[in-house]
Amino acid sequence: MKKLMSVLLVLSMLVMGAAMAESGTLTMATNAAFPPYEFYDDETGEVTGIDVEIAQAICDKLGYELEVVDADFDSLVPGVQSGKYDFSMAGMTVTEDRLQSVNFSDTYATGVQVVIVPEDSAITSVDDLFAEGADNAVGVQQGTTGDIYATGDIEEAGLGSVERFKTGTDAVLALTTGKIDCVIIDNEPAKNFVAANEGLKILETEYIVEEYAACFAKENTELLEAFNGALAELTEDGTIPAIIEKYIPSEEAAAE
Ligand code: ARG
Repeated sequence: MKKLMSVLLVLSMLVMGAAMAESGTLTMATNAAFPPYEFYDDETGEVTGIDVEIAQAICDKLGYELEVVDADFDSLVPGVQSGKYDFSMAGMTVTEDRLQSVNFSDTYATGVQVVIVPEDSAITSVDDLFAEGADNAVGVQQGTTGDIYATGDIEEAGLGSVERFKTGTDAVLALTTGKIDCVIIDNEPAKNFVAANEGLKILETEYIVEEYAACFAKENTELLEAFNGALAELTEDGTIPAIIEKYIPSEEAAAE
């Protein structure tokens, strides 16, 4: 009897071990055309950036392998909700609407919606977009908060049209070729796009300030709590500030 018990014990340990190994990888979904949060590294061909490095540091701490999947931005929340992905980090803004479908972690960064225009644009401030009689073709990345705001404030207000692109990169391309009048997008990607393309600038006035967080399926509260715990520790010990500083050098460091 004793022998049988120990055989059973060993067997159950083996089974548990296998299950743990299986759950040892977390799949993070993102949309990798959003530098410096997520983009393809030219040299390695891999997706990298602030979100990927933070996720990696959290997975290291919690003992998981990290797998990064590049998908359409508007498929991220549904994919997390259905359990296709364990979580998503994509410079994703916490919104009331998304909170109906998923849970968000504590926030780890602030984003600002800004407006990119050609250098010689007649649009000189964000308010110009909402002025009486305005009629601009506004580019956004489909399903982003930029899309949601522009749809309400501009399209539905009869102040112009909203052109929706698969990526921010595509929207900026349409702007450089004169197909649209401006692009509404998050400030850090905006700076990257303006640096990479001649003849563009960012309007000084801000559209709206937001908070970024990772999202999880509603029922996956255990992973969410573990994630938040690791996020807090890695913020406290300076790991996360260092990752952000690496991609977004503070003014002082940049001036040196
Ligand atoms: N912050 C905006 C939002 O949540 C845009 C995020 C776009 N992210 C990306 N990886 N393409 O809607």
